[in-house]
Amino acid sequence: MKNIDAIRANIPCLEKYSYLNMSYGPKSTPVVDEVVRLARLTESEGTLNPDVQDELWRMYENARDGVARLLSADRNEISMTRHVTEGMNIVATGMDWSPGDEVIISDEEHPGGSLPWMNLARRRGIKVKMVEMTYDLEELLSRLGHLIGPRTKIVSLSHVSTKSGFLMPAKEVTDFVHNKGVPIVFDGAHAGGLVDVDVKEIGCDFYTTCGHKWLLAPQGTGFLYVNKDRLDQLQVTWLGAATTENWDLPNLTFDPKPNADKFEYGTRDLTVYGGLSVALDMADKIGITNISARSSKLASIMKNKVTDMPFFELMTPMDPNLSTGVVTLIDQRTNPENPAERLLNDHNIIITGKDEWTRISFPYFTREEEVDRLADAINTEN
Ligand SMILES: Cc1ncc(COP(=O)(O)O)c(C=O)c1O
Repeated sequence: MKNIDAIRANIPCLEKYSYLNMSYGPKSTPVVDEVVRLARLTESEGTLNPDVQDELWRMYENARDGVARLLSADRNEISMTRHVTEGMNIVATGMDWSPGDEVIISDEEHPGGSLPWMNLARRRGIKVKMVEMTYDLEELLSRLGHLIGPRTKIVSLSHVSTKSGFLMPAKEVTDFVHNKGVPIVFDGAHAGGLVDVDVKEIGCDFYTTCGHKWLLAPQGTGFLYVNKDRLDQLQVTWLGAATTENWDLPNLTFDPKPNADKFEYGTRDLTVYGGLSVALDMADKIGITNISARSSKLASIMKNKVTDMPFFELMTPMDPNLSTGVVTLIDQRTNPENPAERLLNDHNIIITGKDEWTRISFPYFTREEEVDRLADAINTEN
């Protein structure tokens, strides 16, 4: 990637830090400028000035167009949410459930990809079945095949595992699950803006992801894809003025809007979606294929270094087709170090970790020297 210096110049925190934790991506100046521009507009011209509202909604709908382009979906299939978890809750609560119905998740799901189902088990008497994750596709399909039965209503899996960084072969898994007559939702928290996600190519029914991780958009910018053939079936759970265009209070009737915006029920901060729109344009300009390739290359450099480190086990597959820009290490020592605090305090490197588990994310604008510096800093006796 040629223009890394120019890209980095737009992300000021990189002057001080190696930013290797994409739980929330760093902020870029154009994104922050856009959020501030919209907020200032409301400040100086009045929030409910029609011109101001027009501009806010224009940017909001621009963001929807950008998301549709990013995921190769139709804009009518995109619901703007606040986060990945909201999308998963919309899917989980929008389906019709009877006691004894089943959902299949994996043992590598995030709370946002598992709690919505666990709650349905509590409240609706459904059963959550868990597939033990394996990075061997044939084995994964075989395990799924054993779990899918006549009561299976949906399969819910991460596209990129939050735990290991494993990149699921989403199309193959979708084809397999669909052949059994079961729909599938992907939690794409760590795929959106990092992996080239084409929901039509994958063929999935639902896909939830966000802007605030790899796309460098503000927090509070999620989005959910609902395949047009599923729009009628997926019911609204939370409703309000934005749900319908024919609310008739005296007669107590309404019809939800026909498109995925029916899930956007009430007031929200629109300024952050302006930031998302700019972030999407930035990613589009660089190209997701370039972003993806560069992140994977950096991750591969790190993975090769880890294989020479005495204390660490690599949890992420080495195979670039089964992984992305995320690298997870397990510290095998009896008293494992969580290096996140030390790396921040001593080296200005931002990563994430808990107990023996450390996850490093390599956004495309990372320099190769930063990978070397990280590897040296992390590979020390504790
Ligand atoms: C796989 C996965 N799903 C869901 C989430 C939650 O995302 P959000 O905070 O946008 O709901 C995360 C956050 O890191 C994640 O890694």
